[in-house]
Amino acid sequence: MPTEASPPRLTRALSGIQPTGRFHWGNYFGAIRQYIDLQPGAHQAADEAYYFIADLHALTTVRDPPVLRGFVRDAALDLVALGLDPDRALLFVQSDVPEVTQLAWLLMTVTPMGLLERCHAYKDKKTRGLPADAGLFTYPVLMAADILAYDATVVPVGEDQVQHIEVCRDLAGTFNHLYGDVFTLPCPRLVEGGAKVPGTDGQKMSKSYQNTIEVFEEPAALKKKIMRITTDSRPVDEPKEPADDHLFQLFALFADAADREAMADLYRRGGFGYGEVKQRLLAEAGRFFAEAQARRAGLAADPERIEAILAAGAARARAKAGAVLARASRACGLDHGPPPVTGR
Ligand code: TYM
Repeated sequence: MPTEASPPRLTRALSGIQPTGRFHWGNYFGAIRQYIDLQPGAHQAADEAYYFIADLHALTTVRDPPVLRGFVRDAALDLVALGLDPDRALLFVQSDVPEVTQLAWLLMTVTPMGLLERCHAYKDKKTRGLPADAGLFTYPVLMAADILAYDATVVPVGEDQVQHIEVCRDLAGTFNHLYGDVFTLPCPRLVEGGAKVPGTDGQKMSKSYQNTIEVFEEPAALKKKIMRITTDSRPVDEPKEPADDHLFQLFALFADAADREAMADLYRRGGFGYGEVKQRLLAEAGRFFAEAQARRAGLAADPERIEAILAAGAARARAKAGAVLARASRACGLDHGPPPVTGR
């Protein structure tokens, strides 16, 4: 007897980025570049792509309303300038989709406290003796709702977000176990060389370590930051292992394969100064983002266009999240509200 094959599931890329300041090289090479590569029509395209500015998450750290508004606007401008194409991917602001916070509550009811206690953002703050609020503590649940609300299959992120995606999978698994096949389980997507971009001091690049280099850094500031990248004090002629050196790792992000190999050879041979590498990095980085920077200036002059992009993205995102919320609500016995829509 012929068996009916189930239709293949769509691949749907989804990711969020916090508007807590201007984007840095870690955000770009760890996440944003993947967003662009996964847009329908791009070389590693997913069937659909959803990207959002995580303003609700940013509220756990940015408590100045005009500053937050400015960061959200900058984030939208930066993402479009860097190549996110609103005709091929949805771009929206997290808080424009209230269905997600309602879904977060459903997930909260299946979240063990111990799971959240092990999550690093909360644990780090606690170890440093800093006060943590319930927003930070339950942050991974909201993030799980962000992902599950859209039936996302692939989540492009840097290494620091992998734990949160595991939490998301755990919660989805528990919910599905209790209530049936409600949620789609997502997978993280990391890129080699970009999953943990080092900062100017060699630790992970992060605003909290004040070791970032911004994507749209002014030329003078860019030069200053690159010149301050820490290096060891080994003599010029001593051969060095490129893989262990964060200056090399930063250079490698911008260089093509041939330049990267040539620089690695130079490291292994020795006889060069770190100053030379910094000059090369300065030139490559300036060139790399120049086109996007020019595009950003044009977009910034047309704020209504960005508002229209965000509104259109939010309308489409709400339709999807509403359908998933209705599915999840019915499954757990909440029978009021709009009826579920079938299909994923
Ligand atoms: P956020 O805003 O801290 O960072 C945005 C993205 O940038 C990546 N990233 C890095 N990648 C490589 N090297 C680095 N040094 C580096 N620094 C940052 C992050 O891994 C991330 O992919 N919780 C998320 C935002 C979020 C989200 C979501 C992400 C909210 N909901 C749902 C995916 C799906 C965050 O704080 O990212």
